Amino acid sequence: MPHSASIEISQLSKHFPAGPTRIPAADNLSITCDPGTMTAVTGPSGSGKSTLLHLIGAIEQADSGTILVDGEDITSMRRSRLEAFRRSVGFVFQRYHLLPALTALDNVLAPLIPHRVAFDKVARARELLDAVGLGGRYNALPGELSGGQQQRVAIARALVGRPRLLLADEPTGNLDSRTGETILDLLIQLRTEQGAPTMLLATHELRLADACDRIIHLTDGRIVEDTAATRVG
Ligand SMILES: Nc1ncnc2c1ncn2[C@@H]1O[C@H](COP(=O)(O)OP(=O)(O)OP(=O)(O)O)[C@@H](O)[C@H]1O
Ligand SMILES: [Mg+2]
Repeated sequence: MPHSASIEISQLSKHFPAGPTRIPAADNLSITCDPGTMTAVTGPSGSGKSTLLHLIGAIEQADSGTILVDGEDITSMRRSRLEAFRRSVGFVFQRYHLLPALTALDNVLAPLIPHRVAFDKVARARELLDAVGLGGRYNALPGELSGGQQQRVAIARALVGRPRLLLADEPTGNLDSRTGETILDLLIQLRTEQGAPTMLLATHELRLADACDRIIHLTDGRIVEDTAATRVG
């Protein structure tokens, strides 16, 4: 049964070397997200949005700090446990990362192939491609799809395993406004379902950010504004 993850990030930092100096891509970040909430991460290019999502998805390793997902610290997890954790997360990458030799349908199915699941995989994959408006393109290769269509396949792929956490990096970034609207509706619709994933979305788009419960604004890897915190404080 799918459920929604809780997230508790404490004093999270990540630096990247840049010549003689180091760039703080995440600078002492502390963020708590309740299960089922939808959080927008905004900020200028280079402010650390992708880095934050990569750290939460355990794609990148932090220098320091902790990330508790459902109470379990993923920064100190063993490799075998980490693999299981990654499977419970849906990730939409900023640059889609579709497998070029696989059809749209097979790309959506790819995360499930080595695993037993308690639902009909192909039916679920088709249903998700239908939902993102690609019902007629099951057998198209990524190279035959536009950037926005590839983005939509990537969103379907992120959702196919019924993740407890959905991390989406610019999910509407390459879409025309009408398709962007469709994706936004899809994400909002998703929230009405029981056990909908907790969502963190990196976005430049106000329309998408406004649909979230909360907006975290980053600059140089630091939180400069957090609407949820503002409301509380
Ligand atoms: N692998 C890497 N090696 C070196 N520096 C990196 C690496 N990844 C990110 N950075 C640096 O970390 C900072 C934050 O990058 P990040 O990609 O998280 O920003 P972003 O907010 O997602 O930007 P954009 O809106 O352009 O996607 C930037 O200064 C970037 O150059
Ligand atoms: Mg980015």
